Amino acid sequence: MKVIHDLNEIYTQIDFVRRDARRIGVVPTMGALHNGHLSLVQRAKQECDVAVATIFVNPTQFGPNEDLAKYPRTLESDLEGLRQLGCDFVFVPPSDRVYRANHSTFVEPPLVGKRWEGELRPGHFRGVTTIVLKLFQLIPAHVAYFGRKDYQQVAVIRAMVDDLNIPIRIEACATVREPDGLAMSSRNRYLSTEDRGRALGLWLALTKAQNCLMAGDTTCESLERGMRDELAKAPVDSIDYAAIVDPVTMEPMRQVDETAVAIIAARVGSTRLIDNMTLVANEK
Ligand code: PAJ
Repeated sequence: MKVIHDLNEIYTQIDFVRRDARRIGVVPTMGALHNGHLSLVQRAKQECDVAVATIFVNPTQFGPNEDLAKYPRTLESDLEGLRQLGCDFVFVPPSDRVYRANHSTFVEPPLVGKRWEGELRPGHFRGVTTIVLKLFQLIPAHVAYFGRKDYQQVAVIRAMVDDLNIPIRIEACATVREPDGLAMSSRNRYLSTEDRGRALGLWLALTKAQNCLMAGDTTCESLERGMRDELAKAPVDSIDYAAIVDPVTMEPMRQVDETAVAIIAARVGSTRLIDNMTLVANEK
C-alpha cells in the first residue's frame, strides 16, 4: 500500500494506473476509520482493480462552533485497517497544500443541499462540494464510493457531478450499524456509556416509522410524530429535524405512496448524530 502526501504525486500515480486501462475506485474520508468506512474500501476492492482511500479532515466543511479541532485523528490505526483490506493507495494531503493561503474558489452546492444539514450547518456543503471536486481532480478515478449514512451528502455530490459534468460514477453504499442498530460514526466515540444508550433512539425512531408505514399509516405528519415520540422516549437532548422526505429532491412529503426517506438529526449530550432509513410502503 502506497501512502502519498504530495498532490502532484497522487495525480501522476493514478493517471499512470488509468493509462494502463485499470479501473480505479476512490473512497474519500476524514479518517478515524471504522467498519462503515472500511466497507466502502472493500466495495472498491471488489469492483475495481485499484482502490484509493483519502484521509483529510477538511476544515472548510466545519462551522466556527463545530468540532474541527477535536475531530478524532487516528492515522496509524487507519493505515493499518486499510493495509489489511489490501487498499492500494492512501492519499493523506497536508492541509496547507490543499488550501493554499490564497485559496478563494468554492463550489456552490446544488439545490438538494439547501434544507436539513444545509440549513443547520451553513457552509457545510460548500466545504464538502469543494473538497470532493478537488479530490476528484487530483485522483482521476472511475468510481467514487460514499455511504448512505450521510444521505443528503450523497445527493449533493450526485447533483454536483451531474451539473458539472464530472466524469465519475457515484456509488452509494449501505449504512454499517452496530449490532443493536446504531449507525457507525466517527463521532460515536464521544458518547459516554449513558449517552450511547440514548443514541439508540435514532434507530428506534427510524424503525418505528418503517413499522407504522408497513401497518398502513402513510401520512407523513403522523409518521414524523411517531419518530419524535420515540426520540423523546430515548430521550435525546434535542432534535434538529425528524422528517419524511422525497428520496431524490429531499423535499418534505405529505403522503408516502411507494417510497420515502426518513431522516433524523439529534443531539445526545454534546454529540450531534444523524441517521436515515429508506422507507417502503406495502404494495397496494
Ligand atoms: P467521513 O465522515 O469520514 O465519511 C467518509 C465516508 O464514509 C462517507 O461517504 C460516509 O457517508 C461514509 N460512512 C460514514 N459512516 C458510515 C457507516 N456507518 N456506514 C457506511 N458508510 C459510512 O463524509 C465525509 O467524511 C466527508 O464529508 C467527505 C466526503 C470525506 C468530504 O470531506
